[in-house]
Amino acid sequence: MLGKLGDLFRGKPVVIKGTRKLQDGMARKVTFGDLLAGTGKEILMCRVGGALHALDARCPHEGGRLSEGPLAEGKLAVCPLHNYQFEPTSGRCVNAACKNAKRYKLREVGDDCELWI
Ligand code: FES
Repeated sequence: MLGKLGDLFRGKPVVIKGTRKLQDGMARKVTFGDLLAGTGKEILMCRVGGALHALDARCPHEGGRLSEGPLAEGKLAVCPLHNYQFEPTSGRCVNAACKNAKRYKLREVGDDCELWI
């Protein structure tokens, strides 16, 4: 009941199918809209400690793209441009003075997840 009530304030989520298959310590990108036209979003889905997290794939440093695949040390999303590393659990950059990566709320439902972007 409270979850449904919360949805009213967060808007309608998008459903991403098959996120349960994402293994611990791994990341994969999902895209929405038209990235080339500047109206899309690229989100990095990361599983850390069994929990799923969602980060904006655009690096807050200079706009690089966070990498998909294995997370550094099984828990850090990496931007290949200058090797900044971000905690998916908080968005915090752990190896440089940088703004946090933007995080998105999500809820795992069965094999899928609902994501509020
Ligand atoms: S643009 Fe990502 S670390 Fe510099």
